[in-house]
Amino acid sequence: MHALGIDIGGSGIKAAPVDAATGKLLAPRQKIPTPRPAVPDAVADVVKQLSTSFSWSGPVGITFPGVVTDGVTRTAANLDPSWIGVDAGALFGKATGDPVRVLNDADAAGVAEMTFGAGVGQRGTVLMLTFGTGIGSALFTDGLLVPNTELGHIEIRGHDAETRASERAKELHDLSWGKWAGRVDEYLQHIEALLSPHLIIVGGGISKQSDKWVPRLSGIRARIVPAVLLNDAGIVGAAMAASASAALDTSSVAGTGS
Ligand code: BGC
Repeated sequence: MHALGIDIGGSGIKAAPVDAATGKLLAPRQKIPTPRPAVPDAVADVVKQLSTSFSWSGPVGITFPGVVTDGVTRTAANLDPSWIGVDAGALFGKATGDPVRVLNDADAAGVAEMTFGAGVGQRGTVLMLTFGTGIGSALFTDGLLVPNTELGHIEIRGHDAETRASERAKELHDLSWGKWAGRVDEYLQHIEALLSPHLIIVGGGISKQSDKWVPRLSGIRARIVPAVLLNDAGIVGAAMAASASAALDTSSVAGTGS
């Protein structure tokens, strides 16, 4: 099934139609800068523009950089606080006129990575972490997602972990690769003590340069691999979620759903 995937990030909002069965983009992705301030109506306008630019009609999956339960955005650590408590599913549904599924950005990237990328066939506990403006997490057990984990916000040395070890923290504090990798290593040691994952997939923009920092992560038992889908993981995962919801709706209409 085809679905439009839209990935809302701190600096840009990206979209492309996707074949959810193969994970392939059906057209080159388009990107519009995230409006400032990134309040709900302004973001919904961009979502509408993107859907219109693909002349889209059909399921739409949208990622959000915060907790999302039943379409409602519950946190917004790196987006405008006016998002807290918004029925984003209804807002974007109205903007696009299409059935919409909203989910956490790291969860979407993780689902895509488990299906088409570095996590294919991986059983046991797998943790995908995205390093960008914040640190996002997606936790899988035998391939099944535990949604809305917020492991970027554990406390390290009295600080929110993502303020020390995200890609943004590297830029903000002008940290060398070695220094930043040391902080990531310390962060991963905390995570490992809590969850003992078999595999950690590291994603986000900075995973493009994984050779500069992944080999320096020496204090971790788990296998660590860079993400494969890079920039497209959020779009693909969003489209997969939308297409799965649409399939479920169709089967319950036909009386075969549970
Ligand atoms: C948010 C997460 C999000 C991550 C990456 C964090 O600040 O709390 O929900 O997945 O940033 O965008």
